[in-house]
Amino acid sequence: MMTQFKLMGAEKINAKPFLKWAGGKTQLLDELINRLPEVVKDTGIIESYIEPFVGGGAMFFYLKNNFRIRNSFLFDVNPELVVGYTVMQKDHKKLTYFLQEIEKEYLSKSDEEREKYYYEVRDKYNHQVSNFDYSCYNNSWVERASYLVFLNKTCFNGLFRQNKKGHFNVPYGSYKNPRVCCTENIVEVNRALRNTEIFCGDFSESGKYIEKGSFVYFDPPYRPLNATASFTDYAKEGFDDKDQKRLVKFFKDMDKRGAYLMLSNSDPKNENPEDNFFDQLYKGYTINRVLASRMINCQGSKRGHISELIITNY
Ligand SMILES: C[S@@+](CC[C@H](N)C(=O)[O-])C[C@H]1O[C@@H](n2cnc3c(N)ncnc32)[C@H](O)[C@@H]1O
Repeated sequence: MMTQFKLMGAEKINAKPFLKWAGGKTQLLDELINRLPEVVKDTGIIESYIEPFVGGGAMFFYLKNNFRIRNSFLFDVNPELVVGYTVMQKDHKKLTYFLQEIEKEYLSKSDEEREKYYYEVRDKYNHQVSNFDYSCYNNSWVERASYLVFLNKTCFNGLFRQNKKGHFNVPYGSYKNPRVCCTENIVEVNRALRNTEIFCGDFSESGKYIEKGSFVYFDPPYRPLNATASFTDYAKEGFDDKDQKRLVKFFKDMDKRGAYLMLSNSDPKNENPEDNFFDQLYKGYTINRVLASRMINCQGSKRGHISELIITNY
């Protein structure tokens, strides 16, 4: 049972992730919330929240719905995701209009035509990559964000996967009547993104905003449970054991600053009880093992209960 906090009336936000994202933390939320720092549970206030691997943002949206967060700083290395968040923040009405138009057109088509339309949008989306200006916000960001949401709602399993060229390569998903434009949620996501800064970059760049008393939630790409469960390719760069070690060093540095830190990761002991990779890296911190329901094969058809790690420095 989650603890409930008292935000009332006009303040109350009810936002959910606007993208389905591999590694999304909705399933693990209860366990994460139970382990928030005591000061946060007692006061219901977070002065400064930092999420260096925001992905779909399940934790961020939950916290914004239930706590008073004065400032948030969100990071992800995936520029497409950052386009999505930024447009939600700056231009959600125009985005809603674009999505309504796409939804109308898509739903008016026969099954075969819908599939053809999906691949046309995917081609346009991939074509844009080579001359898209990710560094400077402009009108074309709204169109690109609308394609991202559409593709995410209609592609196979709601995955985001790119090849080395940065092209989105997930096939069509054949859902009966997918809801492409969730207008009410877009409004809530826009409200949740107030007092929030969104950055495209490596997790280490979040260090500029982390200080004594900040609350930081790290949800890095999973270390694959086995060779076929490689879900670490949200971004074409990948995240290997060297990056996991870079992250531990960063975690230790932020610990020294006096921030409250929470980190989740896959538990390699699911595959090999002798594998102490994270136990060694995070020795001296609080390491919890909790059960979560998770996709355990790459088709997404097989779910199982496996242990996940939640590590805190408090
Ligand atoms: C496990 S997912 C986060 C899922 C998120 N907690 C949710 O609820 O959807 C990990 C995220 O880290 C991002 N990522 C990968 N390498 C990164 C890096 N070096 N720095 C920052 N973000 C990175 C990926 O793009 C991905 O969105």
